[in-house]
Amino acid sequence: MLDDRRATIERASGHRLDMGPILVRDLTKPRPGVERALLTADPTVVLDDPDVAIVVEVMGGVDPTLGYLRAALEAGKAVVTANKQLLSRHGPELLRIAEESGTEIRFEASACAAIPVIKVLRESLLAAEIEGVTGIVNGTTNFVLSEMRRAGRSYGDALAQAQALGYAEADPTEDVSGADAAAKMAILASIAFHSTVRIDDVPHQGIDRLQREDVELAAELGFAVKLLGVARLVGGGVTVRVYPALVPFDHPLAAVDGPDNAVLLEASTVREIMLVGPGAGGTETASAVVADVLSILGTHRGSFLHNALVDAGRPIVPSGLVPSAFYLRLSVLDRPGVLARVAAIFGEEDVSIRTVLQKGEDDRARLVMVLHPCPEGRVVAAVERVAALSDVRDEPVLLRALGTGEGSPVR
Ligand SMILES: NC(=O)c1ccc[n+]([C@@H]2O[C@H](COP(=O)([O-])OP(=O)(O)OC[C@H]3O[C@@H](n4cnc5c(N)ncnc54)[C@H](OP(=O)(O)O)[C@@H]3O)[C@@H](O)[C@H]2O)c1
Repeated sequence: MLDDRRATIERASGHRLDMGPILVRDLTKPRPGVERALLTADPTVVLDDPDVAIVVEVMGGVDPTLGYLRAALEAGKAVVTANKQLLSRHGPELLRIAEESGTEIRFEASACAAIPVIKVLRESLLAAEIEGVTGIVNGTTNFVLSEMRRAGRSYGDALAQAQALGYAEADPTEDVSGADAAAKMAILASIAFHSTVRIDDVPHQGIDRLQREDVELAAELGFAVKLLGVARLVGGGVTVRVYPALVPFDHPLAAVDGPDNAVLLEASTVREIMLVGPGAGGTETASAVVADVLSILGTHRGSFLHNALVDAGRPIVPSGLVPSAFYLRLSVLDRPGVLARVAAIFGEEDVSIRTVLQKGEDDRARLVMVLHPCPEGRVVAAVERVAALSDVRDEPVLLRALGTGEGSPVR
């Protein structure tokens, strides 16, 4: 991702990006796209290099990682990490060392990968006094629970399906026991409440003993079962827990299905703000890691935002060229051949009809169509011709339709 986005990042930040040494365990392993000359198995090659300004840690684990990150921060290097296990145990210590060394540590990818929840809590909502953080912060368990409800699978079958699709590790214990969610909630609660919360402060219950019967009965009663991380201010203190819970179908968290994550932030000043998106994955995690690198570069340069806004120089696309799907309602005289005449015009204008509904009303009929995505200009031209037919009464109603495109959402 750094390579793909290099030009934009360099333009926006005003810095030249050079990839430094890359620490791995196994130098012989094939790594497509990685410059072999940069690989090293010796951590001092990274930590002692005075040209390395930012250390990106995506190796995971607590030991030896903690020692490496301490050393990097003490040497005044900035650190970006995706390591929830480390941060949920030693985050406060690492933040303190960063402050004492006049540098910084960023860790957006450690909770909910691509969802920018830490930056939102740390910066955008800093003044809001957060009172509650409720999250679906583990994609594996959310997928399993969604499958149990939607497809009526048993826990074991749904987990096997998650493993087959790459949403669950071969050993899923961390996820299904709630330990992974507890680590993420400790990090989110610490940032939200400006207080130290470690993983050991978070009692957690997983989904591994949940039965299909209870998921089905909950659905009959109008609830989805979700593994929730719940952090709240209670009487001046902080409580953080992870447990499976019934969520009413009309609650926004109930609609978050499959491997997605979501975090609902509550504060009396801003009411509720929900962030939803992919909570794991290679490019998703890389997006958060690279954004942290950019934030570190950006904090050193006042022109960062200005450059980011103007420098790519992309033109504005005329709206007539942008494809959209449409809903069209026509009021027509109920006589033979109307639908054929309308369809012929759409055919000539190369606009394709996805669904048609015709409803008779006295001497008139309502003709309702959903059109496949196509450039707006073509649809408008076709509808103008249709509106001019002698069969058509009243002004046609044309609305854009979301999510009816093949594959991509309608812009
Ligand atoms: N994958 C995700 O969706 C995701 C999402 C959010 C956060 N994270 C976090 O990102 C981190 C990495 O996860 P991952 O799934 O990318 O792990 P991974 O595939 O196992 O990659 C870890 C990398 O670090 C290297 N490494 C590990 N231990 C090392 C050591 N002691 N010395 C030198 N190099 C070492 C490995 O080298 P070799 O290749 O030589 O073994 C490998 O290249 C974890 O903290 C994880 O919690 C991952």
